Amino acid sequence: MNTVIDVEYEQPMDSRDGAVCSTRHAWAKVQPEPGPAERAALKDRIRHLLKARNAVMVSHYYVHPDLQDLAEETGGIVSDSLEMARFGRDHAAQTLVVSGVRFMGETAKILSPEKTVLMPDLDATCSLDLGCPSLEFQAFCDAHPDRTVVVYANTSAEVKARADWLVTSSCALDIVRALKAAGHKILWAPDRHLGDYIRRETGADMVFWNGACIVHDEFKALELELLKKEHPGAKVLVHPESPAEVVALADAVGSTSGILKAAQDMEAREFIVATDNGMLHKLRTLNPGKVFIEAPTAGNSATCKSCAHCPWMAMNTLADVARVLESGANAIEVDPALIPRARQPIDRMLAFTAALRGGQPVGALVPHLGAA
Ligand code: 13P
Ligand code: SF4
Repeated sequence: MNTVIDVEYEQPMDSRDGAVCSTRHAWAKVQPEPGPAERAALKDRIRHLLKARNAVMVSHYYVHPDLQDLAEETGGIVSDSLEMARFGRDHAAQTLVVSGVRFMGETAKILSPEKTVLMPDLDATCSLDLGCPSLEFQAFCDAHPDRTVVVYANTSAEVKARADWLVTSSCALDIVRALKAAGHKILWAPDRHLGDYIRRETGADMVFWNGACIVHDEFKALELELLKKEHPGAKVLVHPESPAEVVALADAVGSTSGILKAAQDMEAREFIVATDNGMLHKLRTLNPGKVFIEAPTAGNSATCKSCAHCPWMAMNTLADVARVLESGANAIEVDPALIPRARQPIDRMLAFTAALRGGQPVGALVPHLGAA
């Protein structure tokens, strides 16, 4: 039986005129944890089905540790949304099982329309995606024709199809910096905190869609300061979807993979982590001598009921992975007419990040509009 949890959150605002977005609340089905014997049996079944179906698991850092470990053990990947996209595109398997949220499955399908992309639960979505409906977004773009449209990966295929560039939190700074240097003014959507962080860091001229992540938006600066006092030696690691006051307290600001790297590189023994607590599994596995403490979402001003864990990421289960592999249910479909245009900004991001990683110049990948 599924438990249904109502997750209320601040209404994303359309920054054109302050109108409230129509999404009233998000919801999630969180299934009960199977016992040890059932878990072991489900994992065995999944290992067998992956081979039989020529399939590979692509899991995000925020999903249940079982889905992270099993992905790695079976030749798949656990990663951030950027590397999930790259891995799914490049892997030879005919079927991808994407454990994460809907935009990750859609991105995989856009990049590999010939592959079958299965998701454990098609209702697993994201407040950023829900808070950026494509028609309203297109009107916002129409109102700013002089701006280059940069959208976060956490968006629908329709929104991507209107974008010039796609970014994830691990490459947004580099891409916006390069766009600014080439003279671009930016229209940014949908996460206002990440967008404002990028603006502060790069000085780019940006206008924002007013979306937020229901998980990161709830980290509390005041309570974080108190926690820091209790752990004076601890370093604070923050995902930039968090509010600016929380980011201001960070020793390192980064995407999921950036946070992992910072934890490995920094000398400290204790870390306070302001991102989804699904990350703690990988952080603890890779850093056995270090202590990781969740940043506070509770406090006098708290409203979040998801307690630093994304309710939609939590919908991914072993049972559903086994079920979709067996039946072929929950295949992601993207309108074929949309794919070529939606693919453009994704391809640009993947080419840019591949060049950056290879130490190649990226200037030629960004059209020059004149002086910045
Ligand atoms: P990454 O792009 O770092 O994987 O983050 C995705 C996300 O949904 C963060 O909340
Ligand atoms: Fe979306 Fe936030 Fe969940 Fe990430 S953690 S998928 S941004 S709601």
